[in-house]
Amino acid sequence: MREQLSALRGIFQEKLAGAATSEALEALRVEFLGKKGHVAGLMQNLRTLSGDEKKDAGLLINQLKNELTEAISGAIETLQAAALMQLVQSAMQYDTSLPSKEPLGSYHPITLVQRELEQIFITMGFAVEDYNEVVNDYQCFESLNIPKHHPARDMQDTYYLDNGQVLKTQTSAAQNAIMRKYGAPLRAIFPGRCFRNEATDASHENTFFQMEGIMIDRDISISNLIYFMKTMLSEVFAREITVRLRPGFFPFVEPGFELDISCQICGGGGCPTCKHSGWLELCPCGMIHPRVLEMGGIDTEEYTGFAFGLGLTRLAMMRYGIKDIRDLNSGNLKVLSQFIA
Ligand code: FA5
Repeated sequence: MREQLSALRGIFQEKLAGAATSEALEALRVEFLGKKGHVAGLMQNLRTLSGDEKKDAGLLINQLKNELTEAISGAIETLQAAALMQLVQSAMQYDTSLPSKEPLGSYHPITLVQRELEQIFITMGFAVEDYNEVVNDYQCFESLNIPKHHPARDMQDTYYLDNGQVLKTQTSAAQNAIMRKYGAPLRAIFPGRCFRNEATDASHENTFFQMEGIMIDRDISISNLIYFMKTMLSEVFAREITVRLRPGFFPFVEPGFELDISCQICGGGGCPTCKHSGWLELCPCGMIHPRVLEMGGIDTEEYTGFAFGLGLTRLAMMRYGIKDIRDLNSGNLKVLSQFIA
């Protein structure tokens, strides 16, 4: 029996070496392992044996069967890998001198303004941070001195998940985590997408971008805040922009301000973008409330700080003269492809 199996193994290996296609491998499988194949024939012959002889031969035939099955599977895998490699290689052979049929892409205007701002703040020593879009109630509200049932929550109705998490309504939601990450002193900006359950109009979207900034150090005052706001705006617009600062209430700053800029669409005369007021709310800001600093693990005996929440989407509108905020999320390439870095 051993000699017979060894001869069969030899024949199989010879044929396997010559099987270069999946069809040839399938034919080989049928010839050796099929219902009427060589191995099945050997199994039938077992009937003529008896006792231990039958048992030993059965074991050897099974061993051979497994060996042949594995060899065929291995050969199929090798063939498939080679075919894939060929496909990849043929896809990689392209002529770089041929003109492209694909139109060129361009950066979204919000990306352009965001990158510009990041550069401005990096040169002023700020770290750039990223943060989640799905946050919990503590991050979005509680850590910002906005307890449950506080009326300030009404201004920022948002989308709640079944597990109680929210789509962040403001980039301020990252303040606590960033204070805890860096401690004081600290300078950081953190741009991000925000979501609110809003009735949309020319200057309000349900999905928009903000860029938060915080600076915490010894002796930080409102003068520092105003300096950074002015520097940022003069760099972005590269010209004098009329701004106004008025008191504003946010539970996480004290005192708090609303920083508006004169509408760049109508030049301050009044239009639908600025709701005919001539001004656009752009960048609320203020001195960080001591309770917020404490919750962020900052020693309020030693440190003070300011925070601002720039409306990045609105800044892009003002910068590029985009009249309606809804164009920015429209995916309308006729609008969006005009902005080249
Ligand atoms: C806030 O979101 C505060 N977190 C900002 C802040 C940060 C204050 C740090 C103090 C200290 P407010 O809801 O006003 O504030 O939004 C800030 C800016 O985001 C607005 O001035 C506006 O430019 C922009 N913004 C707000 N809601 C929308 C909206 N629905 N569509 C487009 N832009 C919006």
